[in-house]
Amino acid sequence: MPKFIITGQKTLSGEIRVGGAKNAALKIIPAAILSNETITINNLPNIEDVDKALEVIVDLGAKIRRGKNSVEIETKNINKIELPAKLADKFRASIMFVGPMLAKFKEVRFPHPGGCVIGAGGRPIDLFLEGFEAFGAEVITEKNCYHLKAKKLHGANYFFTTVSVTGTENLMMAATLIPGKTVLKNCAMEPEIEALANYLNKQGAKIHGAGTPIITINGVKSIKAGTFNIIPDRIETGSFALMAAATKSEITITKCNPEHIACLLTIFEKIGVQFKKGKDWLKMIPTKTFLPYSIKTHEYPGFPTDLQSPYAVLMTQASGTSLIQEAIYDRRLLWTDYLSQMGAKITMCDPHRVVINGPTTLYGKRLISPDLRAGIALVIAALQAKGVTEIDNIYQIERGYENIEGRLKALGADIKRID
Ligand code: EPZ
Repeated sequence: MPKFIITGQKTLSGEIRVGGAKNAALKIIPAAILSNETITINNLPNIEDVDKALEVIVDLGAKIRRGKNSVEIETKNINKIELPAKLADKFRASIMFVGPMLAKFKEVRFPHPGGCVIGAGGRPIDLFLEGFEAFGAEVITEKNCYHLKAKKLHGANYFFTTVSVTGTENLMMAATLIPGKTVLKNCAMEPEIEALANYLNKQGAKIHGAGTPIITINGVKSIKAGTFNIIPDRIETGSFALMAAATKSEITITKCNPEHIACLLTIFEKIGVQFKKGKDWLKMIPTKTFLPYSIKTHEYPGFPTDLQSPYAVLMTQASGTSLIQEAIYDRRLLWTDYLSQMGAKITMCDPHRVVINGPTTLYGKRLISPDLRAGIALVIAALQAKGVTEIDNIYQIERGYENIEGRLKALGADIKRID
């Protein structure tokens, strides 16, 4: 299995460019199904999750033409209503194809989506199934897959009893082509959702309220296709900002949108981590000592659960005690055991709360990346630690961070990828 070997405590400096948002790319690719015209997607990150999403849409019958960081997708010849189980059952985002396919073909068969280990009971999809039923689909549970069928689909009123990012996106995309009015309440408000709705509206959809808790969609017969420029990845931006702060490095993060990590930057101001920012750049300034600050992860615009792990690494270097509460996912704090093995002073109060005392010196260790964001957090810890760290299972890092080894090397990191 490929692994990273990292020798810590090297001075890092320079510029790092942020890629297109993974969690926008994984939605706009399925959204291509909503139109019979060819869509062009730019600023597409070159990561395994995107490769997988494109493999799925090609398996369904779409034609694609790939550039370095772009793709054209033509879906008018899609001839299958079944998601390929071999691909879909280990790729959580495969669920994003279900809404568009239901709306377009009134029938879809898919396996329970797989994906990373965070979240109780393998990432439930009850909200999706309830939403599809509200649109008039019959949900048949077969062996280990779901079969949705609908004679006639109609608009629906649906209240999300748990805020769900992909749930919001799935039902919003489906409702685009479902006759009648749909009102979705208690929606997620992530920037990627607003970007997706803005694109669909440019193609003729009638979506109002994306980015707020109430989204109203009036179904249309068809939509056109155009060009979608993926917004900067706010989680990459936050990961690199936390890396700079934890390693006390002067790093400029380019092609980003600092507004999308306003919660983290506001905390930086409170704890004394210095930075300067512009419209599409963020310059981190080495800060010797800074205060701890307790967080509780929350849906956007609150503190993102995807930055909880890199933030915990920063708190091991803060002067004092902080409490981190993970309120979105079960099991997403278990990774901190690796941080403790590196010398961090961490007490797990319960599966959703850890107390961290800093500053502590971290020491290199042999580690395994449990999931994407814990993986990048272990890389940040290794860059900051004394000695050599070995991180295994780096698929769980490379699937979300394009050329991470090359980009960190360019900053002066001593990181080697060995197969
Ligand atoms: C999206 O996952 C992101 N993934 C995640 O990023 C991100 O952590 C998460 O939103 C929260 O911000 C993509 O966009 C591809 P949810 P999603 O549905 O939509 C529960 C990363 O690292 N829930 O908002 O799958 C669920 O268990 C990934 O890039 C139900 O109970 O997350 C969780 O506790 C990790 N029933 C909560 O809602 C459902 O039907 C929020 O999950 C659906 C979700």
